[in-house]
Amino acid sequence: MEEAAGPGADDTILARLDRLRAADLPVHGGRTMAYVYDSGLAGLDDLAARAQAAFAGVNGLDMTAFPSVVTLENDVVRQAADLLGGGPATAGTFTSGGTESCLLAVLTAREHAARTRGVTAPEIVLPQTAHAAFHKAAALFGLTPVTVPVDPGTFRVRPQDVAAALTPRTALVVASAPSYAHGVVDPVPEVAAAAAERDVLCHVDACIGGWYLGHRRLADGIAPPPPFDLAVPGVSSLSVDLHKYGYTPKGASVLLFRDAELRRHGWFAHASWPGYPVVNATLQGTKSAGPLAAAWAVLQRVGTAGYAELARRVHEATALLVDGIGRIDGLRVLGAPDASLVAVAADDPGPDPFVVADEMRLRGWYLQPQPAFAGSPANLHLTVTAAVADPARIAELLAELAAAVQRARALGPATVDPGIAEVAAALDPATLGPAEVALALEVAGVGADGSLPQRMAPVLAVLQALPAPLTERLLPEVISRLYAG
Ligand SMILES: Cc1ncc(COP(=O)(O)O)c(C=O)c1O
Repeated sequence: MEEAAGPGADDTILARLDRLRAADLPVHGGRTMAYVYDSGLAGLDDLAARAQAAFAGVNGLDMTAFPSVVTLENDVVRQAADLLGGGPATAGTFTSGGTESCLLAVLTAREHAARTRGVTAPEIVLPQTAHAAFHKAAALFGLTPVTVPVDPGTFRVRPQDVAAALTPRTALVVASAPSYAHGVVDPVPEVAAAAAERDVLCHVDACIGGWYLGHRRLADGIAPPPPFDLAVPGVSSLSVDLHKYGYTPKGASVLLFRDAELRRHGWFAHASWPGYPVVNATLQGTKSAGPLAAAWAVLQRVGTAGYAELARRVHEATALLVDGIGRIDGLRVLGAPDASLVAVAADDPGPDPFVVADEMRLRGWYLQPQPAFAGSPANLHLTVTAAVADPARIAELLAELAAAVQRARALGPATVDPGIAEVAAALDPATLGPAEVALALEVAGVGADGSLPQRMAPVLAVLQALPAPLTERLLPEVISRLYAG
């Protein structure tokens, strides 16, 4: 616990915050290849911080009291719609992030299905590669997820599998542009057509890649991405995060709808209480206009040509990276990435990817481990942002990666005692008590205080060997231990 500073000691307080951040992954410089997005543009973060500070106290709860919020939101939504195939009827909502955009897309579809088609037990059709946010939405809003496998070679969903999964209860079909895990774009035109044929809504999750792909399309001399946006017939909504490839501060995403009539189904209004009349377009009540103002400012500053240039740099860097990884003995890229996300698996026999991640982390690079799931082997996720998009940085990354592979081979893979997997398979996650949970975490290498070892490969190997429901029971316990009480 940090000691309290006295009143007036602003510098001391800020210095303490800086000290806390020292333990975090760096958010600038391009060596953290997940979670953070660095444009590398001088002064951009300062502008965003000033805009954010100026609007921090403005409350987006009541747009009539704070009309600036409406103006900023209209501007940002219009820019997103213009970029991503919208027309004059396109409507949108600024949200706090990709998860909230996905949640609202699902909530809207549920209400639309109930009100226009009388669906009372709604289902949502999801490629196996759809983001976890849709499963969260299904759990929160009472929809049944119907998961469709993806092609084991391309990791794209097959339209005929989506069509076969549709029932009279389907409220929404989801396609990714691109998927987080493999960075590939689902066949949006065919998936949307299958949905439209059954009068079902289709959401394109372009949270991570939409801003990048939309601008890459505008960059000269680069092959355009596959069609994925609102211009595709049958696509009824699309989410795109600005706090990713818009390089805005966190808390910024846009959810676009084909029209305001569809959008209204997700809004909540309440006048049956003694307080102020409520209209919420998003999940939050009171919400700071800071992230919106910061996003607006960053969009104004970078501009369309600026984003197209950033997208060109990211595209070239991703191509260099994919090519270079293909030349490292023992590594291979999963699928053929359509965007700027790369999933790197190991040949068989080859190095343990999780050990490679540990080795990279020890040298200041964060590559994100993705455990094996369905047909997707254990791999490392790399998000390429503009800050790393310099051929010299990519060469440095590839050299580090090649060296990490050598070291990982020498160390050997993280292994799991087969007995543990056997015992774990027999456990019922629903009935695990505190003592069993504590034992399971100890076996996985997690400390009583939730602390994790510096080398994560053994922990990840155990988690990967456990059935998903058991992992889902244990993960919150790990995090819970990090918090006091
Ligand atoms: C495809 C996709 N959808 C949704 C999300 C969720 O976004 P957020 O983390 O901003 O809530 C992500 C995050 O990476 C994503 O990649």
